[in-house]
Amino acid sequence: MEINRIFTNNQAWIDQKIKSDPQYFEKLSKGQYPDILYIGCSDSRVSAEELMGVSPGDVFVLRNIANVIPNSDIGSQSVISYAVSYLKVKHVVVCGHYNCGGIKAAMESADMGILNSWLRNIRDVYRLHRAELDVITDEEERYRRLVELNVQEQCVNVLKTADVQRANKERNLSVHGWVFDLKTGQLRDLKIDFNSILSDIKKIYKIV
Ligand code: CO
Repeated sequence: MEINRIFTNNQAWIDQKIKSDPQYFEKLSKGQYPDILYIGCSDSRVSAEELMGVSPGDVFVLRNIANVIPNSDIGSQSVISYAVSYLKVKHVVVCGHYNCGGIKAAMESADMGILNSWLRNIRDVYRLHRAELDVITDEEERYRRLVELNVQEQCVNVLKTADVQRANKERNLSVHGWVFDLKTGQLRDLKIDFNSILSDIKKIYKIV
């Protein structure tokens, strides 16, 4: 990818948008009213908007390595707070993907420097689900399952935030766990049963 090519592409995009709606950018600059907060992986192959077929203004996006929502990470906590309490999104999506390098790295013991503490969040997911994961003998299968369980645990982290707790009492807000399959391009809803997961942990986190 030639870096200067980006600006040529950008002009072509502007021309195309204006051609179909001369007021496109004027409207875009007026404000954003997205219904969805999408939390996904930074992986260059998992381009959030493109795979969902959505347009600018439709989705508030957070991407980081392996779509992790650590409780002490001010960056992701701020994104969730703003999207839920100010933009009033109706849906929060955590979308993982198979063949995720972050998940793979967390399954190995290599020293990744500053990444170690980030990957520890995923190793914590492994520890929580060790009984299920350790009996999966096929390594590829175990890797895929950890991708899914990481989505589940990060959804729980989203549900534990004060903003989501408050929104849940006041209005309809749903949390979804999805996974993207790079090999087929398919996006799948993991249909995680949050009610039963939450009733299990309610007492610990005092989730109401
Ligand atoms: Co990834």
